[in-house]
Amino acid sequence: MYRSQIVGCGAYLPQRVVENTELSDLVDTSDEWIVERTGIRRRHIAAAGETTCDLAHAAALKALRRADVSIDEIDMIVLATATPDQTFPAAATTVQARLGMKHGSAFDVHAVCSGFIYALSVTDNFIRSGQVRSALVIGAETFSRILDWQDRSTCVLFGDGAGAVVLRQATANSKDPASARGILSTHLRSDGRYNCHLYVDGGPSSTQSTGYLRMAGREVFKHAVTNLAAIVREALEANNLSADAVDWFVPHQANQRILDATAKKLKLDPARVISTVADHANTSAASVPLALATAVDDGRIQPGQLLVLEAMGGGFTWGASVVRW
Ligand code: UT7
Repeated sequence: MYRSQIVGCGAYLPQRVVENTELSDLVDTSDEWIVERTGIRRRHIAAAGETTCDLAHAAALKALRRADVSIDEIDMIVLATATPDQTFPAAATTVQARLGMKHGSAFDVHAVCSGFIYALSVTDNFIRSGQVRSALVIGAETFSRILDWQDRSTCVLFGDGAGAVVLRQATANSKDPASARGILSTHLRSDGRYNCHLYVDGGPSSTQSTGYLRMAGREVFKHAVTNLAAIVREALEANNLSADAVDWFVPHQANQRILDATAKKLKLDPARVISTVADHANTSAASVPLALATAVDDGRIQPGQLLVLEAMGGGFTWGASVVRW
């Protein structure tokens, strides 16, 4: 019986920071509106020519360094993104080459904002089955490239960034599974009937162009709180754990009001919710590993603590994972 342990994490944010006030020069918005409705104050935006693979590579290098794992030991790279450098090849293979990895496998996972949870789940299952011993899981995005910078209802909400974790196979403790360190379980859902509420209006097979992000924000908000609370409950129940047992809730960072409403629904202490939305905005698949790396780096997350990671995004897709750090 195997399980996956997260043995290191790293993050990378582009240098350029764009404050809310800068956006009010572009569209009819204000710092007050953005802060009150979303909690977002600023976001990082990739420089011209700086791509998702650049961000992913930088985050991966940090995660490997923190884990003290060499690239030679990595069997698989799984990269979650909705904004790859190219339609193909997979961004993961570009990162693989840059890391100097000539063995193993590398592929992308596409579940938009839930992408990191999906990638974590896929990788965890490879490790549990014994096919892979060590892996890099990356969430990286440059949503600034698919934003309609004239649409105030979306362009103020997103940012660019990347986060990565190194997973390593460990032997499961069958006597007391919830106390052993590692990923206890992952839970994935999707419901394609809702893909009209959050999508990009282009693509290689339809318009032969990249397109721009379109969102019915209020619809997404409503489903996000309901779906996230349900999947977190399911994840905790699967491990015979109650919400009181959770040390840190590490949610997808879309909107502070979604974080607050979900925590309230689950009766979670808001002080136990990691929030980076003010400084990062919504970085899609990068947001969970970015929040994780932030709370690990500042010392909040400590070995042995119980974490719940969750996300919800276009598709709709959503998911959660329970992790003993
Ligand atoms: O990561 C994937 C998941 N994505 C999400 O979870 C996003 C979920 N949705 C949300 O976070 C929120 O719905 C938004 C932040 C997108 C919008 O907040 P809201 O409270 O639902 O506002 P609204 O869409 O109902 O708009 C309220 C008003 C509208 O004006 P009227 O019709 O009341 O006159 C909008 O036109 O606010 C207006 N508005 C803005 N005003 C100033 C919309 N965007 C802006 C803006 N600045 N940037």
